[in-house]
Amino acid sequence: KNKEGLRKIFNENKIDAVINFAGFKAVGESVEKPLMYYENNLFGMITLLEVMKEFNVKNIVFSSSATVYGVSEKVPFVETDPMGEVTNPYGRTKVIIEHILMDLAKSDNTWNIIALRYFNPLGAHESGRIGEDPNGIPNNLSPYITQVAVGKLEKLHIFGNDYDTPDGTCIRDFIHVNDLAAGHSAALNYLFNNENLGFDAINLGSEKGYSVLEILSNFEKAVGKEIPYVIDGRRAGDIAVCYADASKAKKLLNWEAKYTIEDMCRDSWNWQKKNPNGFKD
Ligand code: UFG
Repeated sequence: KNKEGLRKIFNENKIDAVINFAGFKAVGESVEKPLMYYENNLFGMITLLEVMKEFNVKNIVFSSSATVYGVSEKVPFVETDPMGEVTNPYGRTKVIIEHILMDLAKSDNTWNIIALRYFNPLGAHESGRIGEDPNGIPNNLSPYITQVAVGKLEKLHIFGNDYDTPDGTCIRDFIHVNDLAAGHSAALNYLFNNENLGFDAINLGSEKGYSVLEILSNFEKAVGKEIPYVIDGRRAGDIAVCYADASKAKKLLNWEAKYTIEDMCRDSWNWQKKNPNGFKD
């Protein structure tokens, strides 16, 4: 958001492409603080694009989300599906930014822009030195489970077991963070090897769906003990089933998810076990 600061970085470095990871991402927080989300996510993106334009750097990868498909019941999600009705300001910033990027590409065909639509990131770096350390009580499933396993939280609350799925809990497409990272390298290579791409959106998912209970049981195997849980009511805004069609990533980026759900749970647990207090230690 700091134009002068950005200009300084562009002046002092030779920059070929930019990846924008600087978005706020907590759904619940965005409902409570919508202006903070619109201010950070939209102004941050617009300021960055303006400075990129000034310096004639026109390759950008944007962290988008499967949330842009909205509350649709049609799976798997394909990039040609329309963006749907999103239920929170966080998701809306992703949709608005994708529209901004499309408009920009239409106005000037020398931009090369890829929005990577992440499904549900899970796991940590194998070293156990880089992982997820959410502020406060985790919103997402995996950090909540690992914090129960490490003894910081008492039990997992499963939000609903009356969905139209085999075990009644929601199904998601989990993707290892290392696969996600590789997807960004692949997207940059694609930008560097092609010209006048305009705007494109690409799913990054494993194409496999696992239920909340299946994730819990995979974590129990990784941790080597039972993880206590209770069934609570549904969480507002959750859809029953969400998984990706990732054939576009395979075709254009030569990328596909390689890590299994066992790898993801093992690496998340390894990180949590080695860092019970996250990065604070
Ligand atoms: N869940 C629980 N208990 C918890 C946390 C989650 O039962 O404590 C359940 C949810 O109800 C859902 C599933 O676990 O069924 C996954 O929930 P997450 O919050 O981990 O992930 P979401 O699928 O809701 O959201 C994620 C990202 C969003 C992104 C979205 C795109 O967190 O940023 O995927 O589909 F927008």
